[in-house]
Amino acid sequence: MDITTHDPATGASPHSPRTPALQAPLGLAVIMASNREGRFGPVVSDWFVSRATGRTDFTVDLIDLADTDLPTALSFSPPVSVRGQLGKVTHRLAEADAFVIVTPEYNHSYPASLKVLIDWHFDEWRAKPVGFVSYGGISGGLRAVEHLRQVFAELHAVAVRDTVSFHNAGALFDDEGRHRDPSGAEAAATAMLDQIAWWGLALRDAKSARAYAG
Ligand SMILES: Cc1cc2nc3c(=O)[nH]c(=O)nc-3n(C[C@H](O)[C@H](O)[C@H](O)COP(=O)(O)O)c2cc1C
Repeated sequence: MDITTHDPATGASPHSPRTPALQAPLGLAVIMASNREGRFGPVVSDWFVSRATGRTDFTVDLIDLADTDLPTALSFSPPVSVRGQLGKVTHRLAEADAFVIVTPEYNHSYPASLKVLIDWHFDEWRAKPVGFVSYGGISGGLRAVEHLRQVFAELHAVAVRDTVSFHNAGALFDDEGRHRDPSGAEAAATAMLDQIAWWGLALRDAKSARAYAG
C-alpha cells in the first residue's frame, strides 16, 4: 500500500473496498466466546454485530457459546447428547465464509468455552478468514487474540491483521450498551471487516476454482 494515500484514521485507501460487493454477501459467523454468568460479552458483541449488519457485503449469524454445552472430552463417536450440542453450531460454522471471534481475556488468554468449540471442529475453519474483537481490563484482550492467532494458523484459517479491542471495556459503554466515544472503534471495525471481506471473497473464489490443498 502507498502510505502517502493511506488514511490512518479510517484505514481507507483508494484500494479499499468501500463500495457494495457485486458478489453474493459473505456469511459471517460472529462467535461470542464468553459464557460466564454475569458476562459483559453481549454489550461488545451487540455493538459489533450492529456494525457488521450495517454493511451489504455480509450476512451475520451470531453464535453465542452460552447456548451450547460442548464437553471438554473430545470423541470421534460422540453420544447423542453431544451430537445434539454439535447440531446447534457445526452446520453454522460450516456454512460461514468468515468468522469474527468476540473474546474477553481470562488470565492472559481466551476462554475455555472457545477452545472447546475450536477443538471440536476442523474442516469448518479451513481456508477462511477470521477476525477478532477483544475486550478486558488494561490489556483490551490483546493477549487472548495473540494466542488465538497461533491456534487458527494450525487450523489453516487466515487471521486478518486489524482487530477491534476495548481496554477497560466496562467504562467505554453506557448503561444502554452505547459506546460513549465510538469513532475509533468504528474505524477499527471498518478496517477489520474490509480485510475479512477481501480475504473472504478471494478464498471463496479460489475454493470454487480448486479445492484447498492444505
Ligand atoms: C477468570 C478471569 C480472568 C481475567 N483475567 C484477565 C486478564 O488476564 N487480563 C485482563 O485484561 N482482564 C482479565 N479479566 C477481566 C475480563 O477480561 C473482563 O472482566 C471481561 O469483561 C470478561 O468478559 P465477560 O464478562 O464477557 O466474561 C479476567 C476476568 C476473569 C473472570
